[in-house]
Amino acid sequence: MESEAASVEVAVELRAACRASGLVIEGLPAALDRLEEDERAHVAICRAFVEAIGLGTASDAAVREAAPHDRAPSLLVLSYVLTGLAICESVSALRFATVRAHTDLPIPRACLDRFLRDETTHARLGFDLLPLAIMQHSRAVGRERAARDVEDELRATSRHLDLVVGLDAERRGLTLIARDQPSDNPGVVEPMLDALTLYRGMERTIAPRLDRALAPLAVSASRAWIDRWT
Ligand SMILES: [Fe+2]
Ligand SMILES: [Fe+2]
Repeated sequence: MESEAASVEVAVELRAACRASGLVIEGLPAALDRLEEDERAHVAICRAFVEAIGLGTASDAAVREAAPHDRAPSLLVLSYVLTGLAICESVSALRFATVRAHTDLPIPRACLDRFLRDETTHARLGFDLLPLAIMQHSRAVGRERAARDVEDELRATSRHLDLVVGLDAERRGLTLIARDQPSDNPGVVEPMLDALTLYRGMERTIAPRLDRALAPLAVSASRAWIDRWT
């Protein structure tokens, strides 16, 4: 639920950053409205689900107003588009797909169908916006500086995801195995399966897709993932 609340923040802050940077694209305001609407719906679904299965009453997700940042507006846009949407929404979609495959109760499965559909759309929005965000930031600070900023962002995001989702498995020498999960499953998988989804996703689909998008900056997300701890 925290990650869904964080996704609402991404939507709110991306809208503010686009406004501050002067990024005007036809259809963007409507896409960002839809993004925020979806994420607020996800928070509400998570809250209802937690209460329905008797895990207590979840408090309303606190969504912060866009906080002041000292980063240039064009870098903020790039950061939200690259990390908040293209990477994190792709990871989220893959994780929901994995959980869904192990969820055999109909109502949680229907919720996961909705999450999976929405997060896939949000990831696509990120990849659609990425060329514009790169172009805008390159114009603001120059191509070389923009490339360094993207490399820094990729390293920070890769490290964060490895720690939060990936169990830091590679550095700890953990072997990640996809084991069977319990039946009558309401949508819970063991952390190892989640970590495996992240590792496979980054290596096989997300980083290669980013590599193509980042070609104008000659930045490799695959290399950044491999070198994230060096
Ligand atoms: Fe979401
Ligand atoms: Fe999302």
